Amino acid sequence: MNTTINDWAGELAGRHIVLGLTGGVAAYKAAEFCRLLVKAGATVQVVMTDAACRFITPVTMQALSGRPVFTSQWDARADNHMPHINLSREADAIVVAPASADFIAQLAQGRAGELLSLLCLARPLAQAPLLVAPAMNRQMWAHPATQRNLRQIAADGAHVLAVGCGEQACGENGDGRMLEADELLEELIAFLAPKQLLGARVLVTAGPTYEAIDPVRGITNRSSGKMGFAIARAAREAGADVTLIAGPVALPTPRGVRRIAVTSAVQMHAAAVDEARTATVFIATAAVADWRPAHAAGNKIKKDGGGQPPPLALAENPDILAEIAHAPRAQSGELYCVGFAAESDDLLVHAQAKRARKGVPLLAANIGPATFGRDDNALLLIDDEGVTELPRASKRALARQLVAEIARRVSGGEEGERV
Ligand code: C5P
Repeated sequence: MNTTINDWAGELAGRHIVLGLTGGVAAYKAAEFCRLLVKAGATVQVVMTDAACRFITPVTMQALSGRPVFTSQWDARADNHMPHINLSREADAIVVAPASADFIAQLAQGRAGELLSLLCLARPLAQAPLLVAPAMNRQMWAHPATQRNLRQIAADGAHVLAVGCGEQACGENGDGRMLEADELLEELIAFLAPKQLLGARVLVTAGPTYEAIDPVRGITNRSSGKMGFAIARAAREAGADVTLIAGPVALPTPRGVRRIAVTSAVQMHAAAVDEARTATVFIATAAVADWRPAHAAGNKIKKDGGGQPPPLALAENPDILAEIAHAPRAQSGELYCVGFAAESDDLLVHAQAKRARKGVPLLAANIGPATFGRDDNALLLIDDEGVTELPRASKRALARQLVAEIARRVSGGEEGERV
């Protein structure tokens, strides 16, 4: 298996999404979004307003969704002649993207003049959540009437997605751009995920550290950061407020996650100790360098031609996990600490010893050479209860399982409880 952490195949398998389009230039992004939904395994029923049909044709959306598009409440295809009831009852979620200022105003007033607004009004609130992706000019976005309408629809149960900032089709620059198709998909997947860590403040360290020898050379390791980034993403999807302290890796920051970029172990230590003061869960996945050059040279060290390498004195780096796990907040149970162990042999024996040494309630062990840089992994979870095996799977899938295991432990076994 070699999926990337942004590969959405199967993420929405079994889900039925009603995708509503209203009138806006961003309708072209809805075509790509529809494709991604299908790739993610969802079935998609597109519903378009008259205005939407001026920007993009139902033919395109039918081809991409593989289903005829609905545009009118008078559509005779429904046997009972009630497409607004049928479509809203089948949906696992209704996503309106783009949602124009006018459409948001209609929702705010509970209007039902077109099929799309009608089915939004007719939807069973508890079963068919409504996600709204606004798209409009920056002045329309900033107008008090729009902001008032957005507050109103949120109060009425709609989930209003953020807007992007930047260049707009009208040539102006500012807030109001619709999110990109991949961002919409990430938001939808996160929205539908079980909220096992709601209220938790999760701190994750990830990636390697880089210890400078001089301005151009350094000591580092082969950690890709993929596992830690996948865990940060899964924790955010589970409803946690997530901070990710990342060493030098080029991975994109998961949506909704606060990233603190660091280079060396000393920097990672300072950031982690600071953030751990308010976190409720700490997951240390970083491959922190054990040693750093005792004195980094200010200028590039030159070869002197004598064949003698320069001496390299090393100093030990702080053990971030051990320090935080032995501090009062972790000892009192306010902060739940999770460590990782990458071993090359005798996984269980070494990992059990490491768990005791680090003083963590839960340790996730893996075979280092079988995980570094790869998109899949296998984990052994070790805690007081014993050993739980998470068999080889994508890091994305493992991250979700690990987050569920952590949530179960911090909430005392009750799913969905606040921590
Ligand atoms: O001692 P070892 O590096 O094998 O321990 C691995 C675990 O400890 C990981 O969770 C890693 O993130 C954490 N660690 C740390 N600070 C260090 C070394 C390791 O937080 N200096």
